[in-house]
Amino acid sequence: MTTYNIDITLSTTKKEKPQADKLQFGKTFTDHMFIMDYALGHGWHDARIIPYQSLSLDPASMIFHYGQSVFEGLKAYLTEKDQVLLFRPDQNFKRFNISNDRLCIPHLDEDFALEALKQLIQIDREWIPTAAGTSLYIRPFIISTEPYLGVAPSTNYQFIIILSPVGSYYKEGLAPIKISVESEYVRAVAGGTGTAKTGGNYASSLKAQQQSGDKGYSQVLWLDGVNRKYIEEVGSMNIFFKIDGEVVTPMVNGSILEGITRKSILQLLRYWDIPVSERLISIDEIKQAYADGKLEEAFGTGTAAVIAPVGELFWNDEKMTINNGQTGPVSQKLYDTLTGIQTGTLEDPFGWVVEVPSEVESLLHSNVITR
Ligand code: COI
Repeated sequence: MTTYNIDITLSTTKKEKPQADKLQFGKTFTDHMFIMDYALGHGWHDARIIPYQSLSLDPASMIFHYGQSVFEGLKAYLTEKDQVLLFRPDQNFKRFNISNDRLCIPHLDEDFALEALKQLIQIDREWIPTAAGTSLYIRPFIISTEPYLGVAPSTNYQFIIILSPVGSYYKEGLAPIKISVESEYVRAVAGGTGTAKTGGNYASSLKAQQQSGDKGYSQVLWLDGVNRKYIEEVGSMNIFFKIDGEVVTPMVNGSILEGITRKSILQLLRYWDIPVSERLISIDEIKQAYADGKLEEAFGTGTAAVIAPVGELFWNDEKMTINNGQTGPVSQKLYDTLTGIQTGTLEDPFGWVVEVPSEVESLLHSNVITR
């Protein structure tokens, strides 16, 4: 691991924390943030934790014009034993570098990024909410900051981590959501940026999401961009169906996001010996399974969404009500097990959770000043 000096400037004022029962997703941010700069020829440098604040950027910064950026999303939980747990953070920083590679952004040292995150969480530890269904959402991201209007990879970047205490991602909470199948717009095609976590993928999804929202649906279910027939993913989650006793999810195909929750759910299902397959799934197959009474459950998976049961699927003017609009037993068991492991109330047979030590015991050398 490359070790960098992290300068720490502590905030002298503390923001008011939101009430646990009023927590929304991604609206409140903690007292501090991590930031580090990159310049071509100099590499990553000036790692620092500072009071949460606005950025000052040149209006010509490339991020504003060509969107060269990547992000990640993970969560920290405070256990009943007062331990802070992260869920598979190594996987997030590994995927971060896969996204960086696709967007021509210089790689980060994954071990250092995790150590920096642990330090930031240690400082803002009191922001981790404890009510059921809440957590501290972590948003690491990189933006291109070179002031230049030519289309080329930027020579300068900033890597930033912000923290946000969150409740449920959907306004429905844990109740099943309704989603509509998108037939006009597409999200990604193989060879594009669909597997990278980059802002442009989400910007291009907004039109369809807005139209679906106007019809009363929470999210869209994307079909593949070539045949317009195979299921890919939902707006902010991967998707699973239980058909006639088997759990199926679209296989990784070069255009869907390789979700860390998706991967964990597949591992859990196989551990329980529940039949599962990753394969092509056409929307016609789902419609037929529904018509035959074999579409037993549907649920989305994601860091923000955790497990989101789908109670209704709308396609071609037809409503498919799944499991009477109720959360199915497999979805519930997955939700309980995953959140149990994440919050430390269940044993973690897979070695997924990583504890953030309460004392600064990292390999980093930190200069702490209070301003
Ligand atoms: C996450 O699940 O962390 C995501 O990145 C989805 C986000 C777009 C809300």
